[in-house]
Amino acid sequence: MLKGKVVVLGVTGGIAAYKTADLASRLVKQHAEVHVIMTKNATEFITPLTFESLTGTKCIVDTFDRNFQWDIQHISLAKKADAFMVAPATANVIAKMAHGLADDMLTTTILAAKCPKIIAPAMNTAMFENPITQNNLEILRQYGFTVIEPEAGILACRDTGKGRLPSTELLLSSILQAIAFEKDMAGLRVLVTAGPTQEALDPVRYITNLSSGKMGCAVAEAAVLRGAAVTLVSGPMTAEAPYGLQEHLSVRTAQEMYAAVIDRFAEQDITVKAAAVADYRPVHCADEKIKKSDTDLSVSFTRNPDILLELGKRKRADQLLCGFAMETENLLQNAAEKLKKKNADLLVANSLRQAGAGFQGDTNVITLMTQTETTELPLLTKKEAAHRILDKLLEMRAKQETASI
Ligand code: PMT
Repeated sequence: MLKGKVVVLGVTGGIAAYKTADLASRLVKQHAEVHVIMTKNATEFITPLTFESLTGTKCIVDTFDRNFQWDIQHISLAKKADAFMVAPATANVIAKMAHGLADDMLTTTILAAKCPKIIAPAMNTAMFENPITQNNLEILRQYGFTVIEPEAGILACRDTGKGRLPSTELLLSSILQAIAFEKDMAGLRVLVTAGPTQEALDPVRYITNLSSGKMGCAVAEAAVLRGAAVTLVSGPMTAEAPYGLQEHLSVRTAQEMYAAVIDRFAEQDITVKAAAVADYRPVHCADEKIKKSDTDLSVSFTRNPDILLELGKRKRADQLLCGFAMETENLLQNAAEKLKKKNADLLVANSLRQAGAGFQGDTNVITLMTQTETTELPLLTKKEAAHRILDKLLEMRAKQETASI
């Protein structure tokens, strides 16, 4: 996703510096040209050789190092960079960047860079929460820097609180979000549902299904990467919600998902319903744990609201509605019936019987079905499939806009 892109990584002197090695490696795997600039303090935690081995480029520390191809290095790197990330960013370097100090290679280069700049602060909680650091971060935000909030947890200093460097996955996503895709969904509001729902039998038991939330999260992530303002409504999923969502609502039951989705539907341009919603719930949820006995147990179920059906009734002419169909037999026939009955614009059909498709895995085999055409796609990763779904929805939106002129 980063072929032809140049990413500059600034590494400062915090214990999390070693984690940036993983990020450098992941960026290289995405085919980015990666250059690392370290502060002198950072070299106390990890060696430049580690980054040089991972990136294949010279790791720069000293402004006056003459042992490289002659060039005004800080200016040439600043000009070349498509994205500049400082991770971890210490309070000291944040303060310098906020006030335009340029006394080493890292602060000099970032001052000269005009590309998107992302910083990931990581430090002791008290240092992070200190109003001086918070003001400096606010100054950087005002200058257009993206600031990734640190995570809470046990810190290297044994304190517990906010200050940990977020996962490599999240740091990578923020770089992808900044430069990897054309922002062809900028200005669009997209709502995505993901994961299963849980329908309680008693305080300790519930009915659910195998959905991990990967497919829905892939759609939400792809829309974020393409510039949309994305709301994710998810059931109790095992997949990690993507970085950069405008809003993330975690729900448990189909009724809760119904309420959350209906509440936000009117303001959406596109809604994609990838969640595997339980069609039924137990009529009665016992107040106490159901005790076992020697007789069989019968449970009566009642219908849950059909969210997609309701959205199809409420849909305006300027909105697009995409449903999914998970089938075990008669895939295309059942999907075509759902498309019509639920008044969806696009239906994504997938079959549990097909190798590489359906629940939990990282791949899917999908068929895109509209009122006029059916397109069967080959085995794709869920991330690739998500982009194909969005391509189709954008194509339909372009036709919708032309028709309304
Ligand atoms: O989450 P993963 O592990 O990655 O798996 C992905 C997936 C298999 C869950 C996904 O690709 C998928 O097929 N999602 C829809 C599953 C499903 O519930 O299919 P369905 O045919 O039962 O429902 C049809 C459509 O109606 C779906 O868009 C569903 O969200 C919606 N629905 C269903 C029931 C209900 N009460 N309300 C709904 O809105």
